[in-house]
Amino acid sequence: MIHQKLSSWHMLNKRIFVRADLNVPISQGNITNDFRLQSIMPTLDFIIEHKGSIVLATHLGRPKNKNPEFSTKILIPWFEKHGYTIRFIEDFTKITSEKIVPKEILLLENLRFFPEEKNGDPLFAKQLAHTAQYYVNDAFGVLHEYDCSVTLLPYEFPENKRSIGFLIEKELSVLAQLKEHPQQPFIAILGGEKIKDKIPLMKHLLSKVESLIICPALCFSFLAARKQTVGKSLVDTTMIPTCKEIMLQAENSNIPCIFPVDYQVAYNSIDGPLDIVDGQKIPDNAIGISVGPKTVANITEIINHAKTIFLNCAMGFSERPETQESTIAIINAMAQSSAITIIAGGDSVDSAFHAKYYSQIDHLSTGGGAALAYLSDTVLPGLNPFEEK
Ligand code: 3PG
Repeated sequence: MIHQKLSSWHMLNKRIFVRADLNVPISQGNITNDFRLQSIMPTLDFIIEHKGSIVLATHLGRPKNKNPEFSTKILIPWFEKHGYTIRFIEDFTKITSEKIVPKEILLLENLRFFPEEKNGDPLFAKQLAHTAQYYVNDAFGVLHEYDCSVTLLPYEFPENKRSIGFLIEKELSVLAQLKEHPQQPFIAILGGEKIKDKIPLMKHLLSKVESLIICPALCFSFLAARKQTVGKSLVDTTMIPTCKEIMLQAENSNIPCIFPVDYQVAYNSIDGPLDIVDGQKIPDNAIGISVGPKTVANITEIINHAKTIFLNCAMGFSERPETQESTIAIINAMAQSSAITIIAGGDSVDSAFHAKYYSQIDHLSTGGGAALAYLSDTVLPGLNPFEEK
């Protein structure tokens, strides 16, 4: 069991270390989507209301060295605009000697500027721990990773002084409901490129869902396993035996795997001319990118009869917005349905923000890999420090 303890702490004149996932998309120096920043606000606001001082730490991108483009300094204007008193701290080892100013946020530099973060260095954990008296993990997006600030640092604090934050609490409660007791009919719409990441979830979902809708690019490895022609679409040949296994498991459990009936394709390369083609007749030089209008209509029909819908299915790419229209149409159909609706995965959530009715989606998860791992019953190392025996 994991309980959030933060709400019982006396935080006046104390420093609280908050490990957040503020890994926001940035383009030409601008934050293009502040969903992760908005999502951490309840935890920060609670600490501030209770007159604590915050040491805020996050990773940003995957920098190979101290590349200033990935400095957390870029986040400062967002916090100032939202009324926070925030100060950038170049050298976190100096924090210990600073006077505690209640309600102030001390923002640390990108944790990934320190190789120790990824190397799981215990000394780095000790150094970070010296900055605060309490520790909160609210970085849902990295719970499946072994980063030092997530898996080692919490143990530097006594059990009653370490806690998950409100965001992780909310994510776990929504996803646990989906995992344990989804209202039926429950359907899952899966797509995207990283088939290996999705297989454990697919296997797990087969005992829960009424039907599994398999979209590009994921579907092409399955279609190849059924010996259907897929043109030049993305196929992971190493996964073909697994795809066969999943389809057999689905057939034995009477769970339909639903494939698109038409596709949006690009000819010769992903920058090539776009077209809509029949699902049974994908031309040799066509690359399947998204689904066509008949498939969107079919999926909408299924959505309208469902009581729970989970989507992890980013089709198309932002450089060609017309390739994202089907994903957006499906998300709008979900939003307008009366079902419980959950979207997880960075690109899927990004697409959701382009959908007119996205605010009607019940839960947009801040973690892609973490949400998929949690739903497939994979251990999340970031939760271990908070498990109560
Ligand atoms: C994410 O964006 O999924 C999380 O912030 C984790 O980032 P990472 O995949 O670079 O570890």
